Amino acid sequence: MTKPPYRAIVFGATSAIASAILREITRSHSAEFLLVGRNATKLGNLADDLRAYGANCSIHTIDFLDPTTDWSAIIEKQTGHWDLFLIAHGSLCEQEQALTRSIDVAHEIAVNFTSHATIAATCSAALRRQGRGTLAAIGSVAGDRGRQSNFLYGSAKAGLATFMDGLRHRHAREKDIHIVLLKPGMTNSPMTADIPKSPLFSSTAKVGALGWEAIRRATPVAYLPGWWRWIMFAIRATPAALFHRTKL
Ligand SMILES: NC(=O)c1ccc[n+]([C@@H]2O[C@H](COP(=O)([O-])OP(=O)(O)OC[C@H]3O[C@@H](n4cnc5c(N)ncnc54)[C@H](OP(=O)(O)O)[C@@H]3O)[C@@H](O)[C@H]2O)c1
Repeated sequence: MTKPPYRAIVFGATSAIASAILREITRSHSAEFLLVGRNATKLGNLADDLRAYGANCSIHTIDFLDPTTDWSAIIEKQTGHWDLFLIAHGSLCEQEQALTRSIDVAHEIAVNFTSHATIAATCSAALRRQGRGTLAAIGSVAGDRGRQSNFLYGSAKAGLATFMDGLRHRHAREKDIHIVLLKPGMTNSPMTADIPKSPLFSSTAKVGALGWEAIRRATPVAYLPGWWRWIMFAIRATPAALFHRTKL
């Protein structure tokens, strides 16, 4: 008997990290993807790319920041069982400038937290109806400690981590439902194009492969690559008196 395709709905599918995860999935599975994003042209290009890897793709264009978006109507319209809901979108702003305008602060929190929370809540309900499947979201090591250089982005990612923790607790008795938080460190993607590169950067291909492994294994919280766990442990453990002397 042929194995059914691996089916995933991906929010913010055009993200370089998400695209790399999807390519990894096509290496080992026949796959069906619903690619959700804000830009129809980019989604179309991604769908063509993934079709070349053998995936069956459809696209859905939507404004992620519209608070009236009815995510459940979108998800419920899709028939059948979904193996994975992946929430990937995000934005890294120029923080000092953003902090001077409350609308920019609100925008960053909306892109990096509020939209994730509304989508994740809807996916949680869908998982409960299905009785199995995985919800994964892309957080960041930046959520592990507030640092002067990126606490606007970092605090949204910290909120996402707590939300995912709570969902994991909520579904703890449903053994076939998995809640996965991916925490990449610095990754060489369009988001970080303007940041000078250092040996701490990883490629999107590497982070995508590790991200898929974490999803496949249902790892609750995965640092990508794993050594970021120890860097962030050290950063969290540094006493404030010392930490506040750094420019981190
Ligand atoms: N790169 C890193 O160093 C790094 C490190 C840790 C965590 N992360 C996280 O990894 C995830 C993926 O990022 P990436 O590195 O793959 O960057 P990327 O390629 O720049 O992808 C960013 C994604 O977010 C979408 N997006 C941005 N603003 C949006 C908005 N207002 N509404 C809807 N979608 C929006 C983009 O859509 P368009 O394609 O339409 O622009 C794109 O799909 C993000 O959650 C990011 O925070 C990245």
